[in-house]
Amino acid sequence: MSRSIKKAVFPVAGLGSRFLPATKAQPKEMLPIVDKPLIQYAVEEAVEAGITEMIFITGRNKRAIEDHFDKAYELEAELEAAGKQQLLEMVRSVIPKNVNCMYIRQPMALGLGHAVLCAKPIVGDDAFAVLLADDFMQGERDGLGVMAQMTASFAREQSSLLGVQDVPRAHTKQYGIVSTEPFGERLEKIAAIVEKPAPELAPSTLAVVGRYVLTPRIFSCLEKIGKGAGGEIQLTDGIEALMQYETVLAYRYLGRRFDCGSKLGYLQASVEIGLQHAETGAVFAEWLEQRG
Ligand code: G1P
Repeated sequence: MSRSIKKAVFPVAGLGSRFLPATKAQPKEMLPIVDKPLIQYAVEEAVEAGITEMIFITGRNKRAIEDHFDKAYELEAELEAAGKQQLLEMVRSVIPKNVNCMYIRQPMALGLGHAVLCAKPIVGDDAFAVLLADDFMQGERDGLGVMAQMTASFAREQSSLLGVQDVPRAHTKQYGIVSTEPFGERLEKIAAIVEKPAPELAPSTLAVVGRYVLTPRIFSCLEKIGKGAGGEIQLTDGIEALMQYETVLAYRYLGRRFDCGSKLGYLQASVEIGLQHAETGAVFAEWLEQRG
């Protein structure tokens, strides 16, 4: 097993029902934050972490994701003919040249664990990353992105890692929740993990966010578990099974998360990125100020 992580899995087959009607005919991962789709931010975070093999687990209605990371011949020809060099560069640089994109269809939405299992034929015997694009993550200003922090940690520890943060107890029902023991700087050893517990049953308020680095043994664990919470094959249950064989660590990431699977989180991310954006930042800030 290599010490560095080169492969990332992006489960993108979900229906996006919380964003209907916007997601009736387009994937939720293509919703833009200002001018870039959510999935592109997640891919850029993986590229920053040194990952070169991007594996998308797709489903029906997700063609736009493949098109987005493909060459756009007609568009490029038109931009070239019109002398719009800057836009041309932007379109061409959506994906760096050394990065490969691969697509696997998940025929039925059987859960996050099932989606990850679909990547087994490509991931094989390597440790790999999982990024959920609707968890939009920003590292600290001038600091590393969240996946780059996690792959650096993996290089040292050689153990599976889950990105975690504290959440209000009333929100435990939306997350995988872990209980932990002390381990190291920003790291804790996971003692137990449970998918979406009710607040009164949650073992803690430490929630798993959509960033994982997993060892390949997760695949045999996912093959063994049955349906869990919500009748789905849960990644959380696979991780619980993995803990019988290996140490699994929780990593308290440095940075911020926006839950772009929810309308409020999506709006907050749009405001934040709008304010940071080179083109819109200053005027947008002024407009917000004047609005009162
Ligand atoms: C999934 C996982 C959950 C995790 C969450 C992070 O849930 O099942 O354990 O805490 O992502 O966003 P979902 O949000 O897909 O329901």
